[in-house]
Amino acid sequence: MSGNSSSDKETKKCCCQCEAESEEQNRRSFCLSVLGMGMGAAALATPIYAGARMALYPLEQEGLSGKEYQLTTYDALDEVPRQFVVLDNVTDAWTTSPNQTIGVVYLCKKDNEDGTPGVAAFQTVCPHAGCRVKVGPTKNPATGETEMLFYCPCHGDTFYLNGERVQPENSKSARSLDYLEARVDETGKVFVKYQNFQLGTSERKPV
Ligand code: FES
Repeated sequence: MSGNSSSDKETKKCCCQCEAESEEQNRRSFCLSVLGMGMGAAALATPIYAGARMALYPLEQEGLSGKEYQLTTYDALDEVPRQFVVLDNVTDAWTTSPNQTIGVVYLCKKDNEDGTPGVAAFQTVCPHAGCRVKVGPTKNPATGETEMLFYCPCHGDTFYLNGERVQPENSKSARSLDYLEARVDETGKVFVKYQNFQLGTSERKPV
């Protein structure tokens, strides 16, 4: 009897130990699986965040669209348009690069009707397919005379210095050169609102 009792005690003790070990194992497995899930979530979070940033990147850069830049002074301008580079800090998904070229514009003097100093500003991007428009003595296809015109080196469109197409009926571009809002302040500084526009459309649609 005493032998059986001792054996029962041993068995109970063993069972208690087994249960305790089993509980400990379960607890460890649970902790490991929670840790694993946490690490998996962290590993997934990085590409998801990067993907979201890349998807939103154009929206983030919209802050530059329509922003006003001081590019030169009225006294530094001529009647004939000249190119001016527009610089700004550009941020991609991870880094900010200072003083990057975000565009180029044509500027020339064009006084206001009341005689106060004014400027005309145009995009240098051809509205047809995006080539960089040049300015210089060019044969006017309507008159055959050589005069100062904007011309596109890609498909030959020509534009007057006010941006209008010389021959709308024969132009590849469906609209005039894109003008930009510009002003001269009381100290003579010239400010331009830089803007890109959709290509290949007759409407002037900011992008
Ligand atoms: S890109 Fe200028 S005429 Fe085609």
